[in-house]
Amino acid sequence: MSLIGTDIQRASEELDRGNLVGIPTETVYGLAGNALDPKVVAKIFSIKNRPTFDPLIVHIPSFRYLNSIVTEVPVMAEQLASHFWPGPLTLVLPRKDVVPDLITSGLTTVAVRVPGHPLALKLLNKLDYPLACPSANPFGYVSPTTAEHVRQQLGGDLPYILNGGPCKIGIESTIIGFESQQPVIYRPGGISLEAIKEQIGEVSIKPRASGVVAPGMSNSHYAPRKTLILGNIPELLEEYGPKKVGVLSLKEHFNQIEDRYQIQLSPKGDLTEAARNLFSSLRKLDAMPITHIFAELVPNHGLGWAINDRFQRAAS
Ligand code: TXA
Ligand code: MG
Repeated sequence: MSLIGTDIQRASEELDRGNLVGIPTETVYGLAGNALDPKVVAKIFSIKNRPTFDPLIVHIPSFRYLNSIVTEVPVMAEQLASHFWPGPLTLVLPRKDVVPDLITSGLTTVAVRVPGHPLALKLLNKLDYPLACPSANPFGYVSPTTAEHVRQQLGGDLPYILNGGPCKIGIESTIIGFESQQPVIYRPGGISLEAIKEQIGEVSIKPRASGVVAPGMSNSHYAPRKTLILGNIPELLEEYGPKKVGVLSLKEHFNQIEDRYQIQLSPKGDLTEAARNLFSSLRKLDAMPITHIFAELVPNHGLGWAINDRFQRAAS
């Protein structure tokens, strides 16, 4: 079983030896390894049971570092980075050859971000390589937002998990790339659409993939093991009956259901707080003696957009 602690030195020694380490970021916990070592990168895919057509995000210590792994930084990318880094924004940019093919699933671009967590930044500044770092969950399952979540699922495979407390944002980074010089959002996340538009104006949004998936566009994801059904909760309760059901709502309480089988993401209806609580709530419900989770979409603004994206993928 992995040791959980706050020892940056220990974490960096494990990474230098080619081992993987669980690390905190402001979004979710990551499964980190030397991004420039193809053997280490292969280990990340195998431990997560992740298909190699789903590329990884490279984590770097600062904007200045970007030039060592990408060939070109469009003006808009620089604008976004200077405003949102360190923070929950990932940029997809043309990659340099030092980036192993496995990281990018053979794409000519690489996804990069500077994480906004003090421990992650301290660690990155100590290392002389960037970190490949997907969310530290088995492929397809709910992302971890505490060190304990990481240990529960990947504990057997990791010598060390760096504990940075519960994640402040709770939902993965927003991913933006550029196609014919135009900005495109590939994944809604911890930076809202409104905040991005405020910096760079109009931006298009890549629809979620269905059927055959291109690298980076995996659809079914973030899913609990219990069957998640999205809809109007009172209607669902009437249709299926309240037996063996758990409920996840933004703020509404349901008298038809025992209190212990329902979770409100944010009793005051705050979407930022709701995002922070989303994945841990799904995990709690997943551990209950129920067969179904009923959930409802939240208002689609602010972080609500990313919450709804995760709900839709978890339910599909
Ligand atoms: O907040 C986050 O981004 C977290 C923390 C740990 O930093 N990381 C994370 O990584 O969510 P992961 O591996 O779970 O999701 C990375 C996603 C891939 O599934 C893929 O959709 C996208 O990043 N991606 C990576 N490289 C890409 C590329 N070259 N083009 C398009 N999408 C890419
Ligand atoms: Mg993930």
